[in-house]
Amino acid sequence: MRKLAMSMLASVAFVSAGHVMADADASIEYRQSIYKAVKWHMDPLGAMARGDKAFDADAALHHARQVAALSYMPLEGFGEGTQGGGAKPEIWNNFEQFSAGMERFQEHAAELVAAAEKGELQALRPAVGQLGQTCRACHDNFRERQ
Ligand code: HEC
Repeated sequence: MRKLAMSMLASVAFVSAGHVMADADASIEYRQSIYKAVKWHMDPLGAMARGDKAFDADAALHHARQVAALSYMPLEGFGEGTQGGGAKPEIWNNFEQFSAGMERFQEHAAELVAAAEKGELQALRPAVGQLGQTCRACHDNFRERQ
């Protein structure tokens, strides 16, 4: 009986350790998927801002709105114990700084929407630049070079 109880305890410990790891994997997949979607919408905006793609006011507004909606999503994928992927461990030691970076992302994405609403490339360009700078600043500090 005692032996059975011990082995049950051991399997509970095993299952819960496995559960924590699965959560980390799911979190990493979640946040990477969101960032991939962010990139999907930022790429055409960057191309328009650089003049590599013809400016299309409707498309720009659509992509800006999607980036703004997505800007609220990645943070919950960085819970306790979800280190890994391309995320530097520094995130969890400097979580305030990291989440402040995500807030700047949200603010600058909202400013991008406001700029896109003007329907002019001249307004869009600096807003795309400002947001791109926010991506880079965080990646420099908190994302592993790949
Ligand atoms: C406050 C921090 C922060 C901001 C702001 C940020 N990122 Fe990231 N980004 C990360 C981290 C951390 C990762 C690594 C996540 C992982 O692999 O677990 C990442 C990963 C990515 C990836 C790779 C996803 C994959 O395929 O694995 C892309 C693409 C990306 N970010 C694009 C962007 C773009 C574009 C912006 C700006 C519009 C942005 N990010 C803003 C922190 C940030």
